[in-house]
Amino acid sequence: MTTREEIARRRTFAIIAHPDAGKTTLTEKLLLFGGAIQTAGAVKSNKIRKSTTSDFMEIEKQRGISVSTSVMAFDYKNYKVNILDTPGHEDFAEDTYRTLSAVDSVIMVIDCVKGVEPQTRKLLEVCRMRNTPVIVFINKLDREGQNPFDLLDEIEKELKIKVRPMTWPIGIGKSFKGVYNLADHTLNLFQGDSKTTVEEILTIDDIHDNRIDKAVGVDFAEQLRVDTDLINGVYDPLNVQTYLDGGISPVFFGSAVNNFGIKELLDCFVDIAPEPRERDTDVGTIKPEDVAFSGFVFKIHANLDPKHRDRIAFLRICSGVFERNKYYFDVLDKKQLRFSNPTAFMAQQKSVIDEAYPGDVIGLYDAGNFKIGDTLTEGAAFQFKGIPSFSPELFRYVTNMDPMKTKQLQKGLEQLTDEGVAQLFTRKADGRRVIGTVGALQFEVIQHRLKSEYNASASFDALNLYKALWISCDDRNKLQQFMLDRSSYIALDKDERPVFLAESAWLLQMAKEKFPEIEFHEKSEF
Ligand code: G4P
Repeated sequence: MTTREEIARRRTFAIIAHPDAGKTTLTEKLLLFGGAIQTAGAVKSNKIRKSTTSDFMEIEKQRGISVSTSVMAFDYKNYKVNILDTPGHEDFAEDTYRTLSAVDSVIMVIDCVKGVEPQTRKLLEVCRMRNTPVIVFINKLDREGQNPFDLLDEIEKELKIKVRPMTWPIGIGKSFKGVYNLADHTLNLFQGDSKTTVEEILTIDDIHDNRIDKAVGVDFAEQLRVDTDLINGVYDPLNVQTYLDGGISPVFFGSAVNNFGIKELLDCFVDIAPEPRERDTDVGTIKPEDVAFSGFVFKIHANLDPKHRDRIAFLRICSGVFERNKYYFDVLDKKQLRFSNPTAFMAQQKSVIDEAYPGDVIGLYDAGNFKIGDTLTEGAAFQFKGIPSFSPELFRYVTNMDPMKTKQLQKGLEQLTDEGVAQLFTRKADGRRVIGTVGALQFEVIQHRLKSEYNASASFDALNLYKALWISCDDRNKLQQFMLDRSSYIALDKDERPVFLAESAWLLQMAKEKFPEIEFHEKSEF
């Protein structure tokens, strides 16, 4: 197969959902279709429940699971599908945002009983920012959910996207009969308590065919006719280019746990979802078919064994062909690096690979060289864009509790923040270090890992801050003036960029009014 053909058959995406909507279940069913796993229950749920937030074993277990489920690849028809897992727990939202920078499209799962939930809303905002194409899967049709038209209205209104149903449910909950495929006019009948993958599918040329009445009953058949008329009147046919531009989302209905409606979803997904796309860098666009290899690190995972400090960096390949044992240039560190054991992930299996193509995600063993956002090239010194840090929401001062272990603490903090577990700021006025996170759970993770992996101990003391915002100004003098005026609220991030530590929304507003030339950024990339 040529490189072009390898690129064209890749589909790299993430499943996003509010916790419990069915992401893990859907992932598993997709892997079953791809033949990557043989039995249900093989994919472990990658989530930390609220009740276990203080349970370190649970956190460790989570880290273990999320290495094995970080990337799951499988072959389906002639396609190579790469699913990138996103953590369900909202405290790891930043991790999810970074993972979304490494995919070309997403499937969003919505629970038909609960409709649009807060986490879905946040995740979709990130997709909209990048115009990521989205396919919607409305799950749990075997439960008494909301009316499908109401659900579609809610999705359009709450998530500010346009939708186009591709299948349509007949009945819901106890009376759920199946789905009608609006594109190829097949009727897929739901077998009650079916746990099997066998489905009964009828091909119907005419919506008035009385086989529909026989299969689902006269009332449901009539309702389906009324509904399809309405759908065709209200929703435009799917324009694939508009979907690829992020302008419209095809919608499927089904029940993941019953393996129902998944095949329609997968068939449409491989057919229309984008192949690896071009990416922006600070020197222009890189195309997948560019001959020179390039990729970026979007996730770093520490080794679970504290005796082995090495980590796994997850690299998304953007152009060219990655080859084992070849020297590549780490742009941030300005070092030549060679990888003898790059791994690929096929479902639960890890294996060493000799080469990988654009769209693929590989795991690279790393002795501490990589940072999140690092670019690897054949020598060119450019950086990929689109992997920003977001302003944290929770802050704590770090105090060293063991002066004999100062170096260990410094190293631990640096490496953990390189991994993206949290952000580290240093206050300019007094050199105090401030850790910022999006969730309280991260402080526990950091404290635990500092102790177990670096033998350092730190206390985290309360610090009431509203936000940490990156600041810039075209006029350097004005920026200096602002930094002097608010010196006790200025810190530097890990890359020595100035950040304003706002104590409240009101004080931020005051600063904006007094210094209108200063720009305040919620993201590190602007
Ligand atoms: P998540 O990864 O998005 O958090 O969700 P997950 O797949 O773990 O699913 C959450 C719960 O919803 C699970 O039940 C799962 O079995 C159930 N579920 C998934 N799809 C469907 C569906 O189509 N219909 C119904 N009725 N339930 C569905 P659980 O009780 O939390 O876990 P389990 O013991 O069943 O694994």
